[in-house]
Amino acid sequence: MKKSIAVTALCLLALSLVFSACSDSTTSTPAPTLYERVGGTTMITDPSNPSTMIEKGRLTLRSVVDSSILVIAADAQLAKYFPVLFAELGASNTSGLSALSKNFTDFLCSATGSKNTAYSYTGKSMKDAHNPASNSRMGALADSADFDKFVGDIGVGLAQNGVTVSNNKQLVDDLVALLNTTKADIVQR
Ligand code: HEM
Repeated sequence: MKKSIAVTALCLLALSLVFSACSDSTTSTPAPTLYERVGGTTMITDPSNPSTMIEKGRLTLRSVVDSSILVIAADAQLAKYFPVLFAELGASNTSGLSALSKNFTDFLCSATGSKNTAYSYTGKSMKDAHNPASNSRMGALADSADFDKFVGDIGVGLAQNGVTVSNNKQLVDDLVALLNTTKADIVQR
């Protein structure tokens, strides 16, 4: 008798575990990551290099980075931070620009949830990258107003790639919120 009660109890326990596992899988589909929302892992031809393939998410982020760098480079309020980059460009040397584009894109891929190890960020920490004492390419310590201007310029870069507050406010808000998570490390004056 005792044995059959124990077997019944075990069966009930097993059933309830199965049931809760099933109901979990039907009720909670994980929310897509920001990386998935900007294009995800679908492979497409890289328009900058048609013999290679690139994930759609990375292409979106790289396009936004490249547009934003041009907006930032034309922003007089931010010029003092980029003396090395500007000197190189003045001498027709684009190696620093390419490195910045790659590293910034890697950073955004990693931060938005890319799992592709070829896109992992391997640059400096945000604190070190934005301190002239540890990064000689950084012309000055950033303040809060200049940080906000920089993020606004990325907003312009996003809009140049078709992502605007009027057509995708949630995506703009979520990307800006992600950028703002770096503010405490980057603003050092
Ligand atoms: C909004 C968030 C920001 C992110 C996610 C970001 C990210 C990065 C990354 C990934 C790098 C490359 C680091 C490396 O190669 O090791 C970098 C470099 C740099 N960042 Fe930022 N940054 C942000 C804001 C700012 C702001 C607000 C300023 C100035 C006001 C700034 C100025 C610079 C400069 C001058 C460099 C070096 C550029 C060069 O290579 O010549 N960044 N940043």
